[in-house]
Amino acid sequence: MSKNRKGIVLAGGSGTRLYPLTISVSKQLMPVYDKPMIYYPLSVLMLAGIREIMIITTPHDQAAFRALLGDGSQYGLKLEYAIQDAPRGLAEAFIIAEDFLAGGPSALILGDNLFYGHSLPENLRRANARESGGTVFGYEVSNPSEYGVVEFDAEGNVVSIEEKPTEPKSNFAIPGIYFFDERASGFARAQKPSKRGELEITDLISRYQEEGELKVEVMGRGVAWLDTGNPDALLEAAQYVKVIQSRQGLQISCLEEIAFRAGWINREQLNEAGEALAKTPYGKYLLSVAKKASLKGPAVSA
Ligand code: TTP
Repeated sequence: MSKNRKGIVLAGGSGTRLYPLTISVSKQLMPVYDKPMIYYPLSVLMLAGIREIMIITTPHDQAAFRALLGDGSQYGLKLEYAIQDAPRGLAEAFIIAEDFLAGGPSALILGDNLFYGHSLPENLRRANARESGGTVFGYEVSNPSEYGVVEFDAEGNVVSIEEKPTEPKSNFAIPGIYFFDERASGFARAQKPSKRGELEITDLISRYQEEGELKVEVMGRGVAWLDTGNPDALLEAAQYVKVIQSRQGLQISCLEEIAFRAGWINREQLNEAGEALAKTPYGKYLLSVAKKASLKGPAVSA
């Protein structure tokens, strides 16, 4: 595993498809059933083993994210905050985060993308383990024309990348999570804004492809990738979380649980976090995880 890969959650944007919900509050703070949306992408970076994370927001939303997540120590993380003052595109994240990344590798996840499922941690660990080049994920969809589409060979080497193609070369869409080596910020700086005035992530990905250093990691059918960008998608994501959590009695994207199982916080910290939220199902869940662990002894990993 690369030692110092840092994470970025890009949680700016304008969220116009969710207006009036998101006129005054960031989309990434909207509830997805029982948690703020940003918990979900944050949990994905944590599952990849990443502990130093920058959260990029609009200027007026930053205070709310700080109030919610603080310095991250309660999750065994080191969180930093930065501002994107206008939605100038996803690739701008690597310019904003350049000093934070300090010449190291990175993983960017969009603050409104929700992933959950069986082989996800393994997918993430494989991407994290790749020291050089870039990794995008491929997710099979029925409507590839609505996404960035990746075509790849049997070894997972990318053959082509196309943005919203009318005749897609594969059914594999590229979801909003990307792993890059230390060159990402430099490549992003060299980019020109597209016709719509944004630094496109597709151009950054294509740059890695031109260098012959872009891999695709296929997310299998056991992984759910949910969008939350419009009212129907947001409600469906909430319903998905509720159905799975109720059925299994397990929480999706419970940050303290992930931190505890990774050995980043101890049982006392988990218990304290549970006590603080003891009136809620989330808090009760934390207490039950802590209790089970105390019965079993100092369990560290799942
Ligand atoms: P989008 O869904 O493309 O845009 P948006 O969130 O502004 O929403 P809408 O289309 O309804 O106006 O953004 C994808 C994610 O990336 C989302 O979490 C917001 C974030 N984002 C930024 O933080 N900065 C940007 O410059 C862009 C384009 C998006």
